[in-house]
Formats: sequence, structure tokens, C-alpha cells
Amino acid sequence: MPIVTCEAAVKYLMDSQVVAIPTETVYGLAANATCDNAVAKIYSLKSRPQFNPLIMHVPSIEMVEEWACVSKFAKMLMEEFWNKRGASISFVLELKKEHPLSLLALAGLSTVAVRRPNHPIALDILNSLPFPLAAPSANRSNTLSTTTVTHVLDSLGRNVPAVDGGICAVGLESTILDITHDQMMILRQGAVTEADLVLFGAVSNANSDTAIKAPGMLSRHYAPQKPLKMDVTQKQPGMALLGFGSCCDADLNLSINGNLSEAASNLFRYLHELDRDPFSSIGVNAIPNTGIGKAINDRLKRACSI
Ligand code: TXA
Ligand code: MG
Repeated sequence: MPIVTCEAAVKYLMDSQVVAIPTETVYGLAANATCDNAVAKIYSLKSRPQFNPLIMHVPSIEMVEEWACVSKFAKMLMEEFWNKRGASISFVLELKKEHPLSLLALAGLSTVAVRRPNHPIALDILNSLPFPLAAPSANRSNTLSTTTVTHVLDSLGRNVPAVDGGICAVGLESTILDITHDQMMILRQGAVTEADLVLFGAVSNANSDTAIKAPGMLSRHYAPQKPLKMDVTQKQPGMALLGFGSCCDADLNLSINGNLSEAASNLFRYLHELDRDPFSSIGVNAIPNTGIGKAINDRLKRACSI
């Protein structure tokens, strides 16, 4: 299958085709967000339920201001987290009445999720295009997100053009923060945590009672094929053990030194590697529920639920 250059990727995207591109979180399956036909190709390749809206990837705050309502507060957060910190966070904003975005990509919502990826290849491509890119994670729906180009091609098939950007450094999807209400609300946990956000105001966490339904919050979402068990201390017969910290019989170890950022960046790749015969299940050591550990546990819980 074609591993393509950035220049070729830009041509495909201008021509309403999809391209898998690297970001610092996970690979994205990108297409012109202003073109229904291009966006439809994303849904069909991923077999994604059509009600699930896509994140708009942008090179700058200025592009967002063209079609979303960017308050002073929103702009301050974007400057801080995107421009200063290069942090992996998507903001949910109200759309302007007139906007060029594909209604299919928005899944009928009057809000939009936006993100500036902190990856040189993604930014290079975005800076060469006059439109935002709709880009969900580059995997078939309800399967693991992908953090290497090989996993992208394994998941989506060999006919999808993909740009190889190596291994994604963060390894977990972006934090999603809803800032359309008085109080900020975390819709999806990620590398930017509540502790990073409380400095800017009160933050709540979406839970199952929350009216807003980000389909990323559906219980079973990030799943390997084999059954997964959390907080495993002892390997059972047939089980592949994914270790964390000092664990002597792990098949793979997320971080021997107990470093949570390293564990996050390895998580999907290692789950991919253990999701195969002869293993009949995957067990994971307990992960401390602090900092990005919360996002790791969130993904693991979803992968466990049936
Ligand atoms: O790190 C990431 O965010 C990756 C990379 C490729 O950028 N993208 C990603 O996209 O994870 P996806 O489509 O797999 O997840 C997007 C999540 C979905 O759960 C969707 O429901 C939510 O964002 N979402 C999109 N627009 C929304 C909106 N207006 N309000 C609430 N949730 C929204
Ligand atoms: Mg996804």
C-alpha cells in the first residue's frame, strides 16, 4: 500500500480523498472537513456510526475564528494550550450560524470540536491547505486507535494512503474540553488533565448522567479482540500480561520505571501486539489513577466493558 509523501497527501486531500496522517496523539484518518463527499469516505472506511461527530484539525486559531464562536476565554485557552504548550486538547465551541463545514462531519450538532495537532507533519499538511481536516482516529470503529503507520494499514486496509510519521509520542487521544457552558467540562480524559485546567476556572467531568453524549464516552469503545482484564497481578493460563513498573512475568511492559507518560505512549501499540494468538486474553497490571494515568484507566475500562 502507498506510504505517501506530505506533498502527495496534500494533493489527495485537495482532491477530496482521505489520507491517514500522524499526529502527536494517534494517527488520524483525514479528509476535507468542508466536503461531505470527502467526509463520507471517512465514515465508510471506519464503518463509523454516522451520529458520531468528527474533530476539526486546524493549523491556527484564526482558522477557527472563521466558523466558530471564539470567546476571549476560548482564545486564551487556545493560545495557552495549543500555541505555548503544544498540548493535546480539543475544544468544543458553538458554531457560527453560517459556516462551511460538512454537516455530516458535525453529525447534526450546533457545536464543533477543534484541535491543533502538535506534530510537524500534520501541521505541514494543514498549513498547505485552505480548509480544516476532519480526522477521527485512523482505525476501524470500536477497535484500538493506532499509533504506528503499520497499525493504520492493518486496521484500515492497504489501500488507504498514509504518511509515515513514526510512533505517536503521546499515544492517547486528545483531552476533549467543552467550553460552551459557564463551567468547563472534560468530555474525554487525555494528556491535559483537570489539574492543568483548574488554574483557568472550575472544571467538571462528564459522567453517564451528563446530557452531552460524546460517542467517545460510549462504554465499549477502545477495544482489542481478546478479552481484557485490569488490575491483574498474576498471569492466568493463556493470558498475555501487560506489565507496569516492576513486573517479572510481563510479556510487554508499559513502563518498567513506572512512568505514566511512557505508559500512555506505549498503550495502544502494546495492546495491538498482544491482541493475537496464542493468547486467549490480555491482563494489565494496575495503573496508578493520577495524571495521565486517569486517561489510561479510562481507555482500559472501556476496552473491558462488553
Ligand atoms: O487525539 C485525537 O483527538 C485524535 C487525533 C486523530 O486527532 N482524534 C480522535 O478522533 O480521537 P475520534 O473521532 O476518534 O474522537 C473524537 C471524539 C468522539 O468521541 C466525538 O464524539 C467527540 O470527539 N466529538 C466530536 N465533536 C464533538 C462535539 N461537537 N461535542 C462533543 N463531542 C464531540
Ligand atoms: Mg477513535
